[in-house]
Amino acid sequence: MRLALATIRRLGWRFLPFFLAVLALGFIWPVAAEYGDVVLNHSSDRAGVRPVIFPHWFHRIRFRCKVCHHELGFEMRAGANDVKMSDLAQGKFCGMCHNNEVAWGLENCGLCHSGKQGLAGGIYGGHRTLGPGRW
Ligand code: HEC
Ligand code: HEC
Ligand code: HEC
Repeated sequence: MRLALATIRRLGWRFLPFFLAVLALGFIWPVAAEYGDVVLNHSSDRAGVRPVIFPHWFHRIRFRCKVCHHELGFEMRAGANDVKMSDLAQGKFCGMCHNNEVAWGLENCGLCHSGKQGLAGGIYGGHRTLGPGRW
């Protein structure tokens, strides 16, 4: 704080709005980091389909974490899950809901396989989720 005040004094008060903006950003940033989409590309590229873009946040606000990370067995680590279409067709993983009952069905390939070919698996648009402790 003292350093910040000294810097403001040196640069002059007309820079105050800039300092406030930087401070405000510091508070907003951790929230923005939770909006990460997860790209799944364990087998897609190799199989010649587009990688899957999974909108994690979209699902997290609708379902409890344990539905997917406990009951459905999705490991809570980007890239840790090797999901096969044959599993989905049997109602596992995404297929528990994407079955034309809870949500639109598996015939809508492009809605899940929407990443550009070669897009690496992992989290995009933010860094790691802060973990289950907060929910
Ligand atoms: C609800 C989402 C969803 C839909 C809809 C979907 N997929 Fe997938 N698919 C996945 C996920 C998740 C994976 C695993 C991705 C990875 O890790 O590379 C996958 C993997 C695959 C793979 C590679 C693994 C394997 O099982 O051979 C192929 C091929 C594939 N999908 C084809 C299709 C086709 C064709 C359709 C449409 C008829 C389709 N998918 C619809 C989610 C979906
Ligand atoms: C609809 C299913 C679903 C729900 C609900 C869900 N997740 Fe996930 N989560 C996934 C999938 C799929 C992945 C990607 C795994 C992979 O890349 O193999 C993932 C990845 C993660 C990761 C690793 C990526 C990262 O952001 O660091 C964490 C941590 C995580 N989830 C935490 C949570 C928490 C906390 C909740 C509840 C607020 C939650 N998840 C709700 C399906 C879900
Ligand atoms: C617990 C149930 C559940 C699971 C598991 C689940 N989804 Fe969904 N998903 C939904 C629902 C509900 C919607 C909203 C459908 C609608 O709007 O009609 C949705 C919507 C989506 C959308 C569209 C988001 C948007 O912006 O409209 C995508 C893409 C998607 N899911 C991919 C996946 C993939 C890939 C997986 C597996 C890794 C998965 N989902 C697993 C329930 C689920």
